[in-house]
Amino acid sequence: FFQAEDGIRDTSVTGVQTCALPICLFIMPHWSKFADELVATAKKIATPGKGILAADESTGTIGKRFDAIKLDNNEVNRKNYRELLFTTEGIEESISGVIMYEETLFQSSESGESFVSILQKKGIVTGIKVDKGVAPLPSTDGEGFTQGLDGLHDRCAKYYAQGARFAKWRSVLQINLKKNQPSPLAIRENAWNLARYATICQANGLVPIVEPEILMDGDHDLEANMEITAKVVQACYDACIACGMLLEGSLLKPNMCLPGSTCASGPASPEQVAAATVRALSRSVPAAVPGVVFLSGGQSEEEATLNLNAINTVEGIPKPWVLTFSYGRALQQSCIKTWEGKAENKAAAQKALLERAGANGAAQLGKYAGGAGGDAAKASLYVANYSY
Ligand code: 13P
Repeated sequence: FFQAEDGIRDTSVTGVQTCALPICLFIMPHWSKFADELVATAKKIATPGKGILAADESTGTIGKRFDAIKLDNNEVNRKNYRELLFTTEGIEESISGVIMYEETLFQSSESGESFVSILQKKGIVTGIKVDKGVAPLPSTDGEGFTQGLDGLHDRCAKYYAQGARFAKWRSVLQINLKKNQPSPLAIRENAWNLARYATICQANGLVPIVEPEILMDGDHDLEANMEITAKVVQACYDACIACGMLLEGSLLKPNMCLPGSTCASGPASPEQVAAATVRALSRSVPAAVPGVVFLSGGQSEEEATLNLNAINTVEGIPKPWVLTFSYGRALQQSCIKTWEGKAENKAAAQKALLERAGANGAAQLGKYAGGAGGDAAKASLYVANYSY
């Protein structure tokens, strides 16, 4: 708008303002300093044939993984495990990004080289989980909201300085049709939270992954999941656009559309999952977003890969984004089980990771024939009301 000569906004006239020295004021977008970099980073992560290794388990969650292999949850073991993952030779063929927990971002390998630098040399972008977990959302029946906005500006600046170039923030919603959940309040609050997080990240050079996860729990069918997923994702983009997020410098991390874990009609085929998932996204994700990076959400390793393959081969529904993976459990399960915390199993564990990552890279291209990892990869990873 224009200001009057004395610097006070002239409200005495309607229509064209009459001022001798018009000064045009702009609000620079929050991302303006980093726009080109954000777009380039998002595009690099969404490279066809590649996806994200989500190794951002909190200290508590990695403890649950270590319990399963009877390993002590201490800093050395956590570092050794992450070092095993990041130093897997050839991992860069199918991995474009790695998400870390804060502790890992500041760790180095045995040789003294930082994990960020090791990955950088392989052309892999480092990301960081910046949310601080879920808390109860007042006025709802057991729904939650994600914490972590306080101090986020400063933390993002610190993570950028350490070499991180993207971030993730997980919101959690659940479907309960009898209770009308997710409730309008939970959808709105989580969408707004994600949008505020996303723009703070962009102001600090980090590409935000917007992750509104709808849990698998429930007896709803595939159709219900599809409709609710579309509604939740739409709400996220309404909020992100209202907050001025640069769509081209962001990524979406949704759940795939699946029937609820206790749905009477049982699981859906990869073709059914793919059609419902792409339909939901085609109704809700702007074409300007470069990539959609799915979470695995408790699917078995093999299920998550077969579904991704089907998503990339489905025809007749618009899908203008790169559709790929950002898996935690579905990339690491066989690897960690093979490792068992023993140095002598390291090479075999890395081989298991490489095979799984390669299978998902092929699935991104719609070229996965099935069978990677044998029967072990078919074990369910579902945990009710999962927290990461
Ligand atoms: P899962 O693939 O295990 O669901 O984890 C995804 C995730 O959000 C980790 O960043």
